[in-house]
Amino acid sequence: MTLYEPADVHPAWLPPEVFRAIGSRRTLVRGDGPLVDTVGEEVARACARYGGGVRHSAPGGTGDRDTHGDRTGEPFDLVFALSAAGPLPAVVETVQAEFRRRRGPGESGGRAIGDEGFVIARHDGVTVVLADEAAGLLHGLFHVVRLGETAFGAARPPEHHRPAMPRRMLDHWDHVDVHPVMGQVERGYAGGSIFWRDGAPRGDLGRVRAYGRLLAACGVNAITVNNVNVHATEAHLLTDRLGDVAAIAGELRPYGIRVHLSVGFASPVVLGGLPTADPLDEDVRTWWAGTTERVYETIPDFGGYVVKADSEGQPGPFAYGRDHADGANALADALAPFGGVVHWRAFVYDHRQDWRDRSTDRARAAYDHFARLDGRFRDNVVIQVKHGPIDFQVREPVSPVVAAMPATRVAVELQVTQEYTGQQRHVCYLAPMWSEVLGFRPWGHAGPTVAHLAGAVADGEGGEHDGRAPGGGGGLVGVSNVGDDAYWTGHPLAQANLYAFGRLAWAPWTDPAEILDEWIDLTFVPVATGDPEGLRRTLHAMMDDSWRTYESYTAPLGVGFMVRPGHHYGPDVDGYEYTPWGTYHFADRDGVGVDRTRATGTGFTGQYPPPWSEVYESLERCPDELLLFFHHVPYGHVLHSGSTVIQHIYDTHFAGVERVAELRSLWETLAGTGSVPAALHARVTDLLDEQLRCAREWRDQINAYFLRKSGVPDVHGRRIP
Ligand code: GCU
Repeated sequence: MTLYEPADVHPAWLPPEVFRAIGSRRTLVRGDGPLVDTVGEEVARACARYGGGVRHSAPGGTGDRDTHGDRTGEPFDLVFALSAAGPLPAVVETVQAEFRRRRGPGESGGRAIGDEGFVIARHDGVTVVLADEAAGLLHGLFHVVRLGETAFGAARPPEHHRPAMPRRMLDHWDHVDVHPVMGQVERGYAGGSIFWRDGAPRGDLGRVRAYGRLLAACGVNAITVNNVNVHATEAHLLTDRLGDVAAIAGELRPYGIRVHLSVGFASPVVLGGLPTADPLDEDVRTWWAGTTERVYETIPDFGGYVVKADSEGQPGPFAYGRDHADGANALADALAPFGGVVHWRAFVYDHRQDWRDRSTDRARAAYDHFARLDGRFRDNVVIQVKHGPIDFQVREPVSPVVAAMPATRVAVELQVTQEYTGQQRHVCYLAPMWSEVLGFRPWGHAGPTVAHLAGAVADGEGGEHDGRAPGGGGGLVGVSNVGDDAYWTGHPLAQANLYAFGRLAWAPWTDPAEILDEWIDLTFVPVATGDPEGLRRTLHAMMDDSWRTYESYTAPLGVGFMVRPGHHYGPDVDGYEYTPWGTYHFADRDGVGVDRTRATGTGFTGQYPPPWSEVYESLERCPDELLLFFHHVPYGHVLHSGSTVIQHIYDTHFAGVERVAELRSLWETLAGTGSVPAALHARVTDLLDEQLRCAREWRDQINAYFLRKSGVPDVHGRRIP
């Protein structure tokens, strides 16, 4: 397997140097199967570069082969072994016994490490990675990569790692054809698609393979290859263009990544020529069954379907008088014989509402449609819920749907692509936001977190009373921010969001600052000639709070939107105010915000269980940052911070721009230090110029708008245009 290393594509978090610690040692890989081969080849490639050696031996001692180097004789420094690939070297058996002893009786038998998990230990001068399944060995390999030399230091007792989320999926909103409005990638800010160009596959499969390698190295295990809005050409990926999907799947398979497909609900009509797509119609069900069977004949490890139905003009079951359980179950039944899943999106709302009608509330829609269907979905249906009730805004409460469906598998959807957070022209490290979402406890302190609800059932947890579906949660989904740009994500620092998505899906409790450290240490430090400590300090200073900085100069206090309609970049306070889209702020001369209380508003607060139903309802208790999401208040309303709403708006917008100017100066200190490559430095410098320009635009429009509406002057007398 050759590695894709073109000089003009940035290696992201896998520059060759991160393999130095492994590549200069003697490694034994024990086990067989395609993913074990990947581990063996990765190690062999590193050894070819750094002088170590690797022996790959199959179970039973047959088929041993030194795949690289003459330094493969025992003793080994590093062993990757499958637990069933006996007889195992003595040191592995010792580690295995110690692992079992620590887990205690009752848990020691069987496949205790789990499908994708691994155990890592250092004993007698040997680093051991042990797994039940080859996927676990692959994740263990990348763990050793992250540890670098530390993996070969002091002895360490067995540590057990396994993913919190069963499925960690990136959804590409890529088109095969260039869409007349949305382009090659809907909401894509990193060039074209890495899969498709102008109606055909790009054929650049090396890059697809390299992408799979990057994803595996941060923990992602599934992707979709086309947009949730399925247009005419893309519909055919399910049938006559399935070969194009199979080619992508073939490149990702060696890295343990399964391919899923976004499909249109009307496929039986559009592709099958049937008169209806009614999910209860026998011919329709037969069509889905036959079509799905052919998908699995072509792609045996196919993951399943993603469906956006009855949403923003996409067809769905409502046209036939059916509900979303009927719709999702029809596809689930077709997928079930093959172990596939359907991710059914809960993003269903009326996008043609009358802005004059203040009783209709888009925030309510997903819950109103889905909560009552709890218990009706098949086991292989995953309801995919956007993290907030509206649409990936910079600040939203957690969607109440996550806690409303205890008998249903729920996946939480995040937007890695920065549609509403600066479109990869602004520095906006999103892990702190995601971490807040994943750590939110819908039932208060004593209850489970969102991460727990979306996660798998680990040993010793679960049961009926923990708010989670009996089979475990549906995992974490992110809308991809990747394109064919040389830095993968347009803004080089936006790579950190992609990396952090994978890491949080694997281990949601990880501190975002720690994830940033990992990313910096993999991406920059091994190739830097400058001062690594200074680089780490600078990047933390720029990125740790960048989400809050972005929030400070855009829409205030959770009110959302205020973006330019259509492309959603830059400010336009009233851009959506008198449109059918349901995203309003209701500012007038007296006040601003959306009344979503039960007492006087839309009643949305009632979709939360206590304590949040009470906290959000109460003007006194509602957190400042969400005040305007839940309440319409006068400009003089005093926040917990002690400031009035209007003064808060002025202050945060002035401060936000100053902060961006600081980012710009911080980045400048890295110029010419050798800490980051010159071309990358130049790209980020240009983007910071644009961020500063745009932040000023936001500041001036928001401040001017609210000064004119309210007539309340800034207490500090600053100039507002
Ligand atoms: C947002 C986005 C659309 C997208 C939609 C979705 O509204 O602007 O481009 O199609 O989300 O999640 O389906």
